[in-house]
Amino acid sequence: MSPQATTLSLMRSWPTDDGVVALGGDYNPEQWPQEVWRHDVDLMTRAGVTFVTLGVFSWSWLEPEPGRYEFGWLDEVMDLLADASIAVDLATGTASPPPWFSHRYPESLPVTREGVRLAPGSRQAWCPSSPVFLQHATALTEQMARRYHDHPALALWHVSNEYGCHHLPCWCDVCAAGFRDWLQERYQSLEGLNDAWGTAFWSQRYTEWEQVCVPRATPAFGNPGQALDFWRYGSAALLRQFTAERDVLHRLSPGVPVTTNFMTMDHFRLLEYAEWAKEVDVVSTDHYVVHASASTSVDPRAELAFAADLTRGLSGGRPWMLMEHSTSATNWQPVNEAKVDGQLLRDSLTHVARGADTLGFFQWRASQAGAEKFHSAMVPHAGPDSQVFREVTRLGEVCARLGELVGSRVLADVALIWDYTSAWACGLDAHPSVLVDAGTVAHELHASLREQGVTVDVVPPHADLASYAVVVVPTLYLCDTATAAAVAAAAESGAQVLVTYFSGIVDEQDHIRLGGYPGAFRELLGVRVQEFHPLPLGSCVALDDGSTGTLWTEAMDVVDVAATEVVARYADGSLTGGPALTRRRVGHGAAWYSTTRLDRSGTSALTRRLCEASGVVAPVTNDGAVEVVRRRLVDDDGAHTWRFLINHGRENAAVDLPGHDLVTDRRVDGAWTLEPGDVAVVREG
Ligand code: GAL
Repeated sequence: MSPQATTLSLMRSWPTDDGVVALGGDYNPEQWPQEVWRHDVDLMTRAGVTFVTLGVFSWSWLEPEPGRYEFGWLDEVMDLLADASIAVDLATGTASPPPWFSHRYPESLPVTREGVRLAPGSRQAWCPSSPVFLQHATALTEQMARRYHDHPALALWHVSNEYGCHHLPCWCDVCAAGFRDWLQERYQSLEGLNDAWGTAFWSQRYTEWEQVCVPRATPAFGNPGQALDFWRYGSAALLRQFTAERDVLHRLSPGVPVTTNFMTMDHFRLLEYAEWAKEVDVVSTDHYVVHASASTSVDPRAELAFAADLTRGLSGGRPWMLMEHSTSATNWQPVNEAKVDGQLLRDSLTHVARGADTLGFFQWRASQAGAEKFHSAMVPHAGPDSQVFREVTRLGEVCARLGELVGSRVLADVALIWDYTSAWACGLDAHPSVLVDAGTVAHELHASLREQGVTVDVVPPHADLASYAVVVVPTLYLCDTATAAAVAAAAESGAQVLVTYFSGIVDEQDHIRLGGYPGAFRELLGVRVQEFHPLPLGSCVALDDGSTGTLWTEAMDVVDVAATEVVARYADGSLTGGPALTRRRVGHGAAWYSTTRLDRSGTSALTRRLCEASGVVAPVTNDGAVEVVRRRLVDDDGAHTWRFLINHGRENAAVDLPGHDLVTDRRVDGAWTLEPGDVAVVREG
C-alpha cells in the first residue's frame, strides 16, 4: 500500500456525507493493461467520479489457483484510487467462480428443471445451495477482508452481485436436500407439511421426508404449496450465502457497511427483497430501462419510477444507492436502444428524486472483448471525446451541487403495497386466467398517480401505513391476516383505501379464504364475490361511467348496503347491471373495490377521486409530461425542501416556483419555463 494512500479521509457510512451525491460505476481494471489505470483515474477525476465498485467479477484474478491469492494488482488499483480520493465499494469477488472451481466441483453447477446441468463459461454458474461454493466464497471474502479492511479507499463492501440473476431456481439434488432441511425447519413435522401443501389432494400425502422433492417437471400441474415454498426456499438459500459473507466482513472489517445490489426492476421477481432488506447495512439496487417489460402497458420511465419507489420502500424511506444503471444502451435486450440527448441526466435525477443518494453505472470503461462489449459505459469505445462522456461529466457537476439534499427524505402521501411472495403465488399454475399478473395493475395505478404528480411509496406488506392519505392494494392475491388488518386500520383512521380484483384470495399457505371473495378484504369492502369472470385476451366490458374493463370481472354482491355505494356497474357482458366498482364508508376513511382492470382514463379518474377525497393535492403537471417529486430534510436549521421537475414532454412547461435550481445553478423566480427534456431541482424558498 502506498504511503500517500493513508492520507484519504474515510467515509465510514454510506450514502456519502461528503457533500455530493456520490457518482461512480463498476470498474473492471483487470480487463485493461496497467497503463490505462492511471489514465482512468485522471478521467474519473475529470468526470467528478467519487466512488467505484471494484472486483465484482475478479475471482479468477484474485485466486488463480485454489488457495493461491494474487492481490498485487488490486493493491495498486486501490492505492491509485485512494490517492485520487475516490472511494471504493469493494466487491468480495464471489459473484462468479473461476473455471478451476467449476472443473473441480462440477456438482456446484446449477441444474435446470428438465435436469440439464448448466456449463461454466458464462457467469454466476453456481448452485444457490452449494456448500462447497459457500466454503470457497467465504474463504475469499475472508482474504479480502483481512487484506483491505483498513485500506483508506475502502468505504463499502459489496457482496457478490445481483443474487439470483442467472442461477435461480436450481433443481439439483443439493437443492433438493437443502429444500427438505428448510421445510423441516419451517413445518417441524410431516403433518405440518402435508397440511400446508394440501396433500390430501391427488394422493400426494408424504410419509417420509426423503419422498419430498423440488418441483421438477411433472405430468400434470404440480402442487402449488410446493411450488410457492420452492420460491421461498430459493430466496432464503441465497440469503444464507449473503449473510455468511456479510458476517465474515462484519467480524474482520467492523464499521464498514455491507451491501449487495438488488434488482428491483419489474422483470426480476426472484427474491423476497423485504427479507433481504433487513440484512443489508444499506439498500442498493440496479436499474436498467427495459423497452418491453413484464407490465407492458406501462411506459419504461414509469417503470423506472416504480422501481425507485419500491427500493425506497424496501429501505424504510431512507436514502438508498443506485448501484448500476446505464449511460446509454444495454446489450441484452432484443433491440438495445441508445439514450437520446439528456436522457442520462433525466434518468439519473429521477432516481435521486425518488431517494437515491448514490448514482452508479455499469460500467466505467466499455469492454473491448467479452459478452458485454456492446454495453454502454461512462467511457464509451469512442473514448472521452464523446457525447456520453460529456453527459457523464455534466452529471458529475450536477451531483456535486446536489450534495445539500443528501440524507433528505422523499415526501409521499400514498402507499402502494407490493409483495413478491404474493406475486409468486399469483403467477402459479391452474389459476382462473393466465393473463393475470400481479404487477399489471400495480404498475398502472402507480403510473396514473405519477402522471398526476402524486408520489407513491411502494411498500412491503408489513410497512407502517399510519401516515398515508391513500393506500393502494393492487391484486394482492396472497395476504396474511396482519396485512389485511393494517389496511383496514388505515381506512378506519382516515385513509382512502383501494383494493383491486383477485386480492385477499389465499392465506400464506395458498389456501383459499372461504366464504366468498375477496376473503381477507370482504368485511372491509362490504361486498362478497361468488365467482370470477375472467375475460379472454382482447375482449372488454363497458362500465356505466363510460370507462371499460379488460382482463377480469367478478360477480359481486354488496353486503353492507347501508355503507357501501356502487360507484360503477357493468353496462354489458355477462355481468350487465352488476356492481363493478364500489366504495364503503369506513371510520374516517373509505374502502374502494375495483373488480376489473380499468382502462387508462378509468384508472386516471379513479386515482383522481381517491386523491380528491383524501385531500392529496397534486401540483399542476402539464398533462402528465412533467414528473414532480419533493424531498425534505429536517436538520438543526429547520426544514429544507427540494422539488424535482422533469419535463418528459415535447412542450415547454410553465412553472411558478421560486427558489434556486441546482441543475443550472441559478435563481428562479415568478413564472419560468422548463423546456422539453430539461430537469430542474429547485431548492424551494
Ligand atoms: C447487471 C450486472 C452487470 C452487467 C449489467 C449489464 O445485471 O450486474 O454486471 O452485466 O447488468 O446491463
